[in-house]
Formats: sequence, structure tokens, C-alpha cells
Amino acid sequence: MNSQRLALFPITTRLEPGTNGEVMYIGGCDLTELAERYGTPLYLYDQASMDAAVDEYRSALHTYPNHSGITYAGKAFLCVAVAQWAVRRGLWLDCTGAGEISIAVAAGAPRGQILVHGVNKTAGDLRAAVAHAGVIVVDNLSELHHLAEVYTDQDDPFPDLWLRVRPGVAVDTHSYRQTGQDDSKFGMSYTETLEAVRLCHRQGLPLHGLHFHQGSHFHDPEPVGPAVARVLDLMVDLRRDSGWTPGYLCPGGGWGIPYHEDDLPHPSIEDYVRFVARRVEEGCEARDLALPILHLEPGRSLVARAGVALYRVGAVKQTPQRRWLLLDGGMADNIRPALYGARYSALPVADPIRPTAGAAWLAGPYCESGDVLIHELPMPDVAEGELIAVPASGAYHLMMGSNYNGALRPAVVWIRGGKSSLIQRREEIADLIRRDLPLEVE
Ligand SMILES: Cc1ncc(COP(=O)(O)O)c(C=O)c1O
Repeated sequence: MNSQRLALFPITTRLEPGTNGEVMYIGGCDLTELAERYGTPLYLYDQASMDAAVDEYRSALHTYPNHSGITYAGKAFLCVAVAQWAVRRGLWLDCTGAGEISIAVAAGAPRGQILVHGVNKTAGDLRAAVAHAGVIVVDNLSELHHLAEVYTDQDDPFPDLWLRVRPGVAVDTHSYRQTGQDDSKFGMSYTETLEAVRLCHRQGLPLHGLHFHQGSHFHDPEPVGPAVARVLDLMVDLRRDSGWTPGYLCPGGGWGIPYHEDDLPHPSIEDYVRFVARRVEEGCEARDLALPILHLEPGRSLVARAGVALYRVGAVKQTPQRRWLLLDGGMADNIRPALYGARYSALPVADPIRPTAGAAWLAGPYCESGDVLIHELPMPDVAEGELIAVPASGAYHLMMGSNYNGALRPAVVWIRGGKSSLIQRREEIADLIRRDLPLEVE
């Protein structure tokens, strides 16, 4: 059971002999030492795991007969160092709004590698996108009208526009993470897309692509098939209506990962990519459409496994119903269990393959009974002061984090080849009051 859990951790995870049994190492670094050096809660990112995920996407995309590319969905986890990694690996960066664009720019991302998303982009978001992006994915007609106004006035290179289409099919995932269904807040309907293409042509806007995204964290690619078919049918209608065929097609991201040993074995990135590539290729052939450049837009499946959250147990509490392990982090750095019941697993860092002592509930320190990171997980006897490592923590944790109860955002450490380096410092008390102003009225 515990040894199966090890498979959820980064690919470089090893157990090495320590003073009291084995200790977990990731990327050649001893987790006990990292916790001492940087404190807890601590987030670790293992570059080798991220690189391996990119390689798996790339090698599977080789089966697609036209050009293809990968955009990293920064919403999963973005900071300057991660943006630099993505740019160096030749990935485009999907940025939502002016804030994420500024992170990409600070990392030195060139225009050609910045793609901008957003369901209700503000004028400021659009200004930043026009100034820095190579691609803007247009969510709706109001946004397109706004861009058309800006376009007439400006001389600089203008980003390519892709239209976000609602394919009317969502993937099988929690309803909070579904985006492709007909009543989703994201993207344009079939008729809105026809209208958008006509508008682009009337205004001479640089329209180059179509985009759709069906949801996040799915494990079965099957629903991507009907969505691809619908979008290709739309492409046939667009060709007839406006004489336009997109040069780029992006079926979004959303491929899931295993978070818990019960999720193993998990279908591979390669299974998913080959499925999508084949559907696009066959669908285009059947409709006599030119093969578009295929862009995938994964977030979670590139970085989630690379990330590990390290917590220290402050207290062990036994109530009549359960054993509580009280950790020094929780819903402020990982809201996913409270938000949509995400299930996680964990191991003690020292001597992780100890026999289980029954179920434990791993809870955070915050003033909410819902601040429970893991429910009913078979765990060994764990003592106060021990370190607990939670695998699959690299996506949608820190980006959705908060300062609830005055929580300080954790430090983030990059690990590669036996070396660690701080890529985000821990927040300090001063950060909590940095935006505050004294009351000036009596
Ligand atoms: C438009 C878009 N692209 C890509 C993603 C990335 O999804 P994931 O991290 O599940 O791969 C999302 C996430 O919801 C998204 O909304």
C-alpha cells in the first residue's frame, strides 16, 4: 500500500538509508534537510518530472502529420522561474489576464510564446495582451468588438486572434471543472463563432485559430472525440460561410493525473495525445479540411506530479471517531479538497514504508472544520514533529492559495540534480499588511 503511494511522487523519488531507517529523497535532495533549511509548509518542484512530462507530450505529438506545439497553462502554477523553464523548453505560456502576463514578461518570455486567455478580460488585460502576447484567445463577441476598436488605432505588431468555441460537450470531471458544455460561461456558441469570423473579416483582424477546452482533470479522452467532430463541422461551415479555415486548432488541456493510490494505474499522456491527434487527422481527412497546426494546452499533467507539499505534524489528536494528524498547512495552500472534495494521499518522510496503524485524517491549522486535506487515509503511527509529504501537489494549490487566518504563503523550492534553489520566498508578516492603510476618519 505505502510502496504504491511512492508511485504518485516525482519520478526521481528514492528511499535512502538515514539515521532512523529510510528517508525520502527527491531529485537527489534529502527532504528532511530541505525542510530544515527552508521551513515548512514547503513546496518542492522536481524539474526532471516536468521535463519528462513535456517529452511525453512531444513524442506522442510526433504522430500528428502537421506541425504541433504545446502551451503550458500557467494557471496550474506560474512564477518567474516556472515561466523561464517553460520558455526554455520551447513551450508557449497561457496567461490569464494582465497579472499572469506580467509574470511571463518578467521571466523574459518573448511575444511569440505568450498566449492570453480570460473569460471576461478587462480593458487592462487586453492592453497587456496587445502589448505582449503573440496570441489572444477571444472568449466572446464583446471582447472581439473591443479588440476591433483597438486594432484600428495601433501600428505595433498585433497578436494573432483565436476564437474560443463552446463545443457543447464536457469531459467527465467535477462540475466545477467542466467548461465545454453548452451552458458554460466560457467561449462562443456555434452562431456566435460564425458572427465573430465575419466581424474579423470585415475589420481585417488577424484571425488564425480556433480553440476549445472541455474541462480539467479527466482520465478518459473519449468525450474529446465528439467535441473535435463538432468543431471540425463548424470549420466546414466557416469555410462555406466566410471562406476561412483556421491555421491553428487547440483542443485545450485538462488531462488528469493520479492523486491517490486508488487512481493507479492511470492512462498515460501518450494515450490521450494520440487519441486527440488521430481524431483531428481523421476528421479533417473525412471533411476534406487542410490539417491545422495542432496545439495542446496542458497545465496539471505537466507540473502536478513534479510538486510535493511538505508539512510538519504539530499535534496528533485522538477523538472517539478518528485519529487527527494536525499539519502546519492546509486549505490556505491547498483549497482543492475543501472546494471540490479532491482526494490526496501522503507518506511520512522518515521511514515511509512502515506498517499502517489504521486510518488518519490529515487536517490543517485553519478555523474551518472543512480544513481537512486528507480524509481517512491508512497511515502508520506518526509522532508529533514528523514530516509528511503530500504528492501530486504541483497544480492548482499555490495559485488558488490565500492568507486565511493570516497564513503566510509557503516557500517554493526548485530541485534538480541534487541541488535545491528557492524560487519563491516564504511570505513574511510584513507582506500581510503591505497593502493596508491606516483609518483616516475619526
Ligand atoms: C482554457 C484552459 N486551458 C487549459 C487549461 C489547463 O487544464 P489542465 O491544467 O487540467 O491541463 C484550463 C484549465 O481549466 C483552461 O481553462
